[in-house]
Amino acid sequence: MASAVLSRSVSARLSYRAVGVNSPRVSTAAHRKWLVPGSFVNVLVIVFFLVSLVLAMACVVYLYWFRYLSRGGSGFISAFSSTAEDCDVFQGSWVPHDSYPLYNSSVCPFVERGFNCLANGRRDTDYLRWRWRPRLCEVPRFDAREILERLRGRRIVFVGDSMSRTQWESLICLLMTGVEDPQSVYEVNGNNITKTIQFLGVHFRSFNFTVEFFRSVFLVQQGPPPSHGPKRVKMTLKLDKMDTIHQRWVDSDILIFNSGHWWTATKLFDVGCYFQVGGSLKLGMPITSAFRMALETWASWVESMINTNKTHVFFRTFEPSHWSGLAQNACEVTNRPTLEAQGNVRSEFTDIIAEVVGKIAVPVTVLNVTMMGAFRSDAHIGTWSHPSSILDCSHWCLPGVPDAWNELVFASLLRDGWR
Ligand SMILES: *[C@@H]1O[C@H](CO)[C@@H](O)[C@H](O)[C@H]1NC(C)=O
Ligand SMILES: *[C@@H]1O[C@H](CO)[C@@H](O)[C@H](O)[C@H]1NC(C)=O
Ligand SMILES: *[C@@H]1O[C@H](CO)[C@@H](O)[C@H](O)[C@H]1NC(C)=O
Ligand SMILES: *[C@@H]1O[C@H](CO)[C@@H](O)[C@H](O)[C@H]1NC(C)=O
Ligand SMILES: *[C@@H]1O[C@H](CO)[C@@H](O)[C@H](O)[C@H]1NC(C)=O
Repeated sequence: MASAVLSRSVSARLSYRAVGVNSPRVSTAAHRKWLVPGSFVNVLVIVFFLVSLVLAMACVVYLYWFRYLSRGGSGFISAFSSTAEDCDVFQGSWVPHDSYPLYNSSVCPFVERGFNCLANGRRDTDYLRWRWRPRLCEVPRFDAREILERLRGRRIVFVGDSMSRTQWESLICLLMTGVEDPQSVYEVNGNNITKTIQFLGVHFRSFNFTVEFFRSVFLVQQGPPPSHGPKRVKMTLKLDKMDTIHQRWVDSDILIFNSGHWWTATKLFDVGCYFQVGGSLKLGMPITSAFRMALETWASWVESMINTNKTHVFFRTFEPSHWSGLAQNACEVTNRPTLEAQGNVRSEFTDIIAEVVGKIAVPVTVLNVTMMGAFRSDAHIGTWSHPSSILDCSHWCLPGVPDAWNELVFASLLRDGWR
């Protein structure tokens, strides 16, 4: 019944123009932990202050000149590969690597059937063998044993849509590779993983920690419309109120959010869901403005409810889809990762996330995964979905791209001296 076609255009676009290199980098220092510059101006004697300042400025100019040159393709990259503080790990490319994939989805019971391409008949395996390599530094290999030990007694919480669920599943499978007895890892309520379930929590008994997922596709509250509204308004999204389950996200040790895929006219207006602020309907409000307002609500919530001495907060940016055309009856994919970004990246969403997070008064790390995914049209589920009549050019096969998001989360924590 597959009217859907997976059009595989072997990419002839492997040009060396890495997209993103020339776009402005959002380096709102305090919050983008990756980009906090080292304070090398360590003034010991006050008389030398001015001299040091001049030297420092000269250094900055020098460094930027070098980086500028390296962007132009000159061979200066390696000279800076060790300055890890300065490395934007989200800028890079996918390289083939023998140690991938990091787990076998057939032996991890937490990969839901819809994401288990192998179980759904996918035979090509090349898409499994890619490692994300940042341009200016290395990401340490995911060491399941070490991370299991560090997670003892903790709580990891994912909040968002199905893209958060897939990262949740990926993390459980990555960690299970370090567990001797698979039976000691279980869903706390004995639930199976389903698309609409609101809460799933997997406990690792030997290590006494839980990895939880809360489905909250908008992060803010959905509810009935105010009375006397127009008939087409069946429900509203209250942009100034957090989702009713927000209390359960507090007191976690690692807290990872995403939102974006449900902010479309089809998923909102077409089903009669309109925006509301306070008591009033905002019928004409554009979706991007509403998304920004919801994120601002989320940001105030983080500031007032989260003790960032305990909780490490992350927000993941939009994960690109690779549908071919508007009819959504084919995927536009390649056989291998590309060096040029492709697909629907909805970069205005990523920009809004970066802007809002940039203004938060507490540390929050943006997981800027949009470009990583834009290179990976080869790694989508496509026709290897479940049920197989559904074509899926949005989600990713597991193992796959979401594993790299988790590697970056832990690389980030470890680099920042994770306690
Ligand atoms: C995200 O990363 C890409 C690629 O490195 C970069 O071009 C873009 O500016 C970044 N966006 C933000 C908001 O940091
Ligand atoms: C994954 O596990 C299954 C079941 O144990 C096994 O048949 C298969 O060979 C494994 N695949 C790989 C790539 O190791
Ligand atoms: C398990 O971790 C919790 C904290 O999440 C702690 O209160 C409890 O004492 C731990 N239990 C054991 C047996 O270590
Ligand atoms: C989960 O799925 C299995 C196999 O499909 C089924 O036997 C079991 O009853 C399900 N459990 C729940 C809690 O729905
Ligand atoms: C977090 O740590 C800082 C510095 O150690 C301390 O001043 C602050 O009171 C702590 N905040 C909370 C909420 O515990």
